[in-house]
Amino acid sequence: MLEFKNVFKSFHNEEETIDVLKNISFRMETGEFVAIIGPSGSGKSTLLGVAAGLDKPDTGIISLDGIDLTKQNESKLADIRADQIGFIFQNFQLLPGLNAIENVGIPLYLKSSLSEKEILSKAEKILESVAMSHRATHFPKQLSGGEEQRIAIARSFVNDPKIIFADEPTANLDYKNSKTILDLLLYRNKKQGTTLVVVTHDPEVAKLADRVLEMKDGEIISDSKNGSKPQNRKSIPKVKVSPPISSKSSTKQRKTTKQAKKVSR
Ligand SMILES: Nc1ncnc2c1ncn2[C@@H]1O[C@H](COP(=O)(O)OP(=O)(O)OP(=O)(O)O)[C@@H](O)[C@H]1O
Ligand SMILES: [Mg+2]
Repeated sequence: MLEFKNVFKSFHNEEETIDVLKNISFRMETGEFVAIIGPSGSGKSTLLGVAAGLDKPDTGIISLDGIDLTKQNESKLADIRADQIGFIFQNFQLLPGLNAIENVGIPLYLKSSLSEKEILSKAEKILESVAMSHRATHFPKQLSGGEEQRIAIARSFVNDPKIIFADEPTANLDYKNSKTILDLLLYRNKKQGTTLVVVTHDPEVAKLADRVLEMKDGEIISDSKNGSKPQNRKSIPKVKVSPPISSKSSTKQRKTTKQAKKVSR
């Protein structure tokens, strides 16, 4: 279960303060598939980042299965992310110095006592499921945008997370690849009970969700179960609308972990 209670977040620069999340409260149950929609700049990625413990809100409570993420230190948060959370970034965030299969393995390098061989074997299976085995040894700059996205998706699956946050996971994919990825996400959700939180601009993706949260200007303006009328709709103005590594780790594994930690926020 994921719960937000009165969450606020602002970004500050020299000239101004931007209030990006303004009193967000909602609760989602284990196994739910929730889509988050809303215009560009409405705060969707920011909400996902704080929900996954990648960033901290200014105030409020964000609780994942009873643990308040806002109260955890970086090392504990890294553990929680490595054990429980899969995250697909809007801009992929693959590590340029690692090839495809090593990128997929990052969450395992960060968390587990698995050997390099076991990690790569697990990553290989997941790569296969996103039809990317043939690019296993390619580096991110040798991949197309859609291929990078499939690697990022594979990486989010590799630790068998109980919740997956996906920021526009099909944005760069053609119809066929988009369907493959959605099928994989749906399989995780429906058959394995993985909670799924997907930010999307695609109405077809939102239609597949159990529930749709709509954001505007840092607020949730509607919360509706698919197939029913929106609930709690606010009036809208009439304008257009990762942890210590195993001591047994190999040098390569340590190097990989170091690189992984560098980009892990
Ligand atoms: N690190 C940051 N520093 C300053 N402002 C930021 C930062 N991150 C996000 N913002 C601002 O916060 C607002 C919300 O950004 P966010 O990325 O959450 O929007 P979004 O709904 O995901 O948009 P999109 O659909 O374009 O991805 C934007 O106005 C953005 O410029
Ligand atoms: Mg975004």
